[in-house]
Amino acid sequence: MSLAPVTIAGTGSYLPERILTNAELEKIVDTTDEWITSRTGIKERRIAAEGEFTSDMATKAAKKALEQAKIKAEDLELIIVATITPDTLTPATACYVQDNLEARKAIAFDISAACSGFLYAMELAKNMIGAGSVSNALIVGAEKLSAFTNWEDRNTCVLFGDGAGAAVLRKSEEGEGRILATEIGTDGAQTSILNIPGGGSAMPITEANAGDKLSSLSMLGKEVFKQAVRRMKDAAIKVVDESGLTSEDIAQVIPHQANLRIIDAIADRLDIDNDKVFVNLHKYGNTSAAAVAIALDEAARSGKFKRGENIVCVVFGAGLTWAAAAIEW
Ligand SMILES: CC(C)(COP(=O)(O)OP(=O)(O)OC[C@H]1O[C@@H](n2cnc3c(N)ncnc32)[C@H](O)[C@@H]1OP(=O)(O)O)[C@@H](O)C(=O)NCCC(=O)NCCS
Repeated sequence: MSLAPVTIAGTGSYLPERILTNAELEKIVDTTDEWITSRTGIKERRIAAEGEFTSDMATKAAKKALEQAKIKAEDLELIIVATITPDTLTPATACYVQDNLEARKAIAFDISAACSGFLYAMELAKNMIGAGSVSNALIVGAEKLSAFTNWEDRNTCVLFGDGAGAAVLRKSEEGEGRILATEIGTDGAQTSILNIPGGGSAMPITEANAGDKLSSLSMLGKEVFKQAVRRMKDAAIKVVDESGLTSEDIAQVIPHQANLRIIDAIADRLDIDNDKVFVNLHKYGNTSAAAVAIALDEAARSGKFKRGENIVCVVFGAGLTWAAAAIEW
């Protein structure tokens, strides 16, 4: 079945006000600004206020995307929130967002694909709009990772931050841009290298294990690093090839914002100049599913690419999961 083309009609993002700098982290764990900067590129990250939930950040990003897309919340037909830090295990964070937006007509659900979640959501929304099941969709990547961080573990607490990014998708009209190609993948044999082990049904948090920080992110950094470079490079090449583009046709690559060394390695392997690769992780750290969504919004609004130009988004996360999208903007 051939699917109708789908365009991104608007984007939005939201970052909490509170900035946590590397200098402040030096006072919390045994680390230095020099170590964090040289190993990751991160200088600061945002931390949600107490009482500010993933759904609140998602809603704020969504409102901006809807405004730019000139679509009213009441006309939305689908809301997908990608998150690993939902407000509650159930119902889905997307249901809170639907209520906050008063988007009464929209079906709403979450997907859990870690840092790759936003592009997984894009793939789903694109196919549902393309097949005619819905006429538009709001996709959001939103995370309150600070609530799942072990603030005593220097290996992980320096890496993550909070925030949300959103996009509104609808059928592409004549002369508009469209999503050219997408690629998503999973390797479930590698669940152990990056996960939150506790808090699910396999290991509920009990009185006996409550102090063990089991509901915090745990990671084998070096292994994740290697996999991230390989999977993102392969996924990006696949969507570029499938779209019939070459690296010269790409105005901007928007990669997952986890580590500057990973981003540099991907730019190198894709043979793309560093100035064509968008980076904002120095300001926000790794915001998981929100990262590529925030980066897409910031890059678009700051004029890094224009309507009619081609961009490539590419992500990687726990699962393992990975995804890429080539988009004519
Ligand atoms: C986490 C990461 C930055 C670590 O960088 P690295 O160069 O691999 O560093 P290593 O793990 O080899 O650690 C080197 C040393 O620094 C120490 N270290 C770790 N965190 C530190 C910190 N915040 N400050 C100071 N030292 C730190 C380690 O304990 C280790 O010390 P040791 O040699 O005495 O054991 C890097 O592996 C990475 O970014 N991995 C991918 C992470 C990622 O992208 N995750 C999300 C995917 S979606």
